[in-house]
Amino acid sequence: MILYFSGTGNSKHVALTLSKILDEKVMAMTPDMRSGMQIQHPDTRIIWVFPIYSWGVPPYVMDVIKGINLIDKSSVPIHHAVVTCGDDCGLADRMWRRAINKRGWSDGAILSVQMPNNYVAMMGFDVDSKELETEKLANSSARITHVAETILECEKSETRITDIVHGNYAWIKTRVIYPWFKRYAMGPEKFSVTESCISCGKCADMCPLGNISMKKDNSGDKRHPEWGKDCAGCLGCYHTCPVHAIDYAHATNGKGQYLNPQIRQNR
Ligand SMILES: Cc1cc2nc3c(=O)[nH]c(=O)nc-3n(C[C@H](O)[C@H](O)[C@H](O)COP(=O)(O)O)c2cc1C
Ligand code: SF4
Ligand code: SF4
Repeated sequence: MILYFSGTGNSKHVALTLSKILDEKVMAMTPDMRSGMQIQHPDTRIIWVFPIYSWGVPPYVMDVIKGINLIDKSSVPIHHAVVTCGDDCGLADRMWRRAINKRGWSDGAILSVQMPNNYVAMMGFDVDSKELETEKLANSSARITHVAETILECEKSETRITDIVHGNYAWIKTRVIYPWFKRYAMGPEKFSVTESCISCGKCADMCPLGNISMKKDNSGDKRHPEWGKDCAGCLGCYHTCPVHAIDYAHATNGKGQYLNPQIRQNR
């Protein structure tokens, strides 16, 4: 079984492609999984697919790993992870392995796939140029095939395999910046909507946590998004808006938008 979390479609695309290659069922992580939701699976492997956030495992994914109630019907499964990143992953592999082992589960392979960057919510960070986006997407197909082969090899050889881009200063990024980022830079309270909102509701429909509700404005004519507190910081709402009407603390002024092209056509 493949369990995925995705804001702008990169990880979803990787999950769907892997499910075809490996003939695995695929399922999106849901908020209930954090609080003991039971998932019955007859599978011998679980593949976690998710994006890298601030050189670590997204807090939402950590909560799903901690809370999910996996009921295996047959043999004890082996857990693998496939992470998507714009550039590098820090020590996210160690974070994921520790969380999996804490549940008493066995960990196998963890691999990264470099995909177009979607992080725009801080000064100095923007989506990739069109050229770089195209190059990353073109390279990703062969990489996903390699990921699938490596997972099979890992199971055959019964050895752990780590094949991710750690990047420079990995320890500082994961151990120092990640906790700071989680605490101060991911909150939904910094989202706002501009006058150009056309009330289409696409942001609310796409939110993987159901954290956006469409509320009537003062005139009572139009509905606009309102953000609740349960946010994974995925930026999917920002990138999905067809008129670029969502802002994150002005840090997104003049920034680009990105949705994985394979997934965008189905939204
Ligand atoms: C909150 C946040 C933090 C991110 N931090 C990193 C990072 O530390 N390293 C990196 O390479 N990419 C980072 N990214 C980029 C994403 O990991 C990358 O674009 C990923 O493929 C997005 O996956 P998705 O389309 O499935 O949401 C970050 C994105 C977000 C939204
Ligand atoms: S509110 Fe926006 S950033 Fe937060 S989880 Fe929903 S789509 Fe993602
Ligand atoms: S996606 Fe954009 S235009 Fe549509 S409701 Fe949300 S903010 Fe408004």
